[in-house]
Amino acid sequence: VKELIIDCDPGIDDALALFMAFASDKLLVRGITTVAGNVSSALTARNALSLCTLAGQDIEVASGASGPLVGTTHTAANVHGENGLGNVNLPVAGGISERGAEELLYQELLRAGGDLEIIALGPLTNIALLIEKHPDVLPYIKKLTIMGGSLGRGNVTPHGEFNFYSDPLAADRVLRSGIPIHLVGLDVTNQALLHGEDIDKMEAWGGPVISDVVKMIRYYQRFYRSMGLDGLKMHDPLAVAAVIDPTLTETTAYALRVEHNDQETMGKVCIIDESQWGNAQLFKNVSVSMRVNQDRFLSLFMRLMRSF
Ligand code: BDR
Ligand code: CA
Repeated sequence: VKELIIDCDPGIDDALALFMAFASDKLLVRGITTVAGNVSSALTARNALSLCTLAGQDIEVASGASGPLVGTTHTAANVHGENGLGNVNLPVAGGISERGAEELLYQELLRAGGDLEIIALGPLTNIALLIEKHPDVLPYIKKLTIMGGSLGRGNVTPHGEFNFYSDPLAADRVLRSGIPIHLVGLDVTNQALLHGEDIDKMEAWGGPVISDVVKMIRYYQRFYRSMGLDGLKMHDPLAVAAVIDPTLTETTAYALRVEHNDQETMGKVCIIDESQWGNAQLFKNVSVSMRVNQDRFLSLFMRLMRSF
């Protein structure tokens, strides 16, 4: 069983990713940290807590950064609704942790002595602040799986994917940190689609938990339909799926940086020129998923959701 902390910005696809992690017997979620992203940091923390309540999970939720390291905050309420969860109102039990996101991450990583992984599903601000303030934490991060970035097209601008575009400096610092990273970016998440008939199937299962989940998914579906698309992009769920089953995607290792100065290409993931490798800090520490077995992803998703 892999023990992990999920850093996220729920967000409808974050919600589905959390549910997959809760349901999988291969993962044990030790804590959830939240960051401003799809909606404000106040809302992402509250949403994470209400998703735990809905799923019947007693997991510590710690709130983190309310905006990027530098620059202005971007949100995606057009995709996820004003409340971040498709405007579905969920009950909340318990409260947000007294610890902040950085504190929870630092303390739990040290306590686990190198056995804890992180999955990051939002802008990388919390992770960048963690390694900046506590550089001694680096060897304790067993692995960091990130949903973010694109080697090809973006989804906010032609080059910028939402999470990396929202805090490009944080993304750059994290990718160059030397932590063993698995990057699950748009190159592969654009291939992980949920279709109308899958949603109908879930709706037919019924039950109080799934009916709220389906309400959120229907909101997400309306967004994709408004873009003229039939499939819903399962960005964050694919990152969790890749941790549950590392054989789901094919990866290639690179040394990467993220553009954070140039307006036009802000957030773009760039392969570092190997001729610059005189610099000892550069090495191929990032495995990038480029292809996914869609059928196996979808059957894993449906099997885990069925358990609610
Ligand atoms: C990413 O952006 C967010 O809107 C989603 O939750 C996902 O993490 C996809 O670009
Ligand atoms: Ca997200």
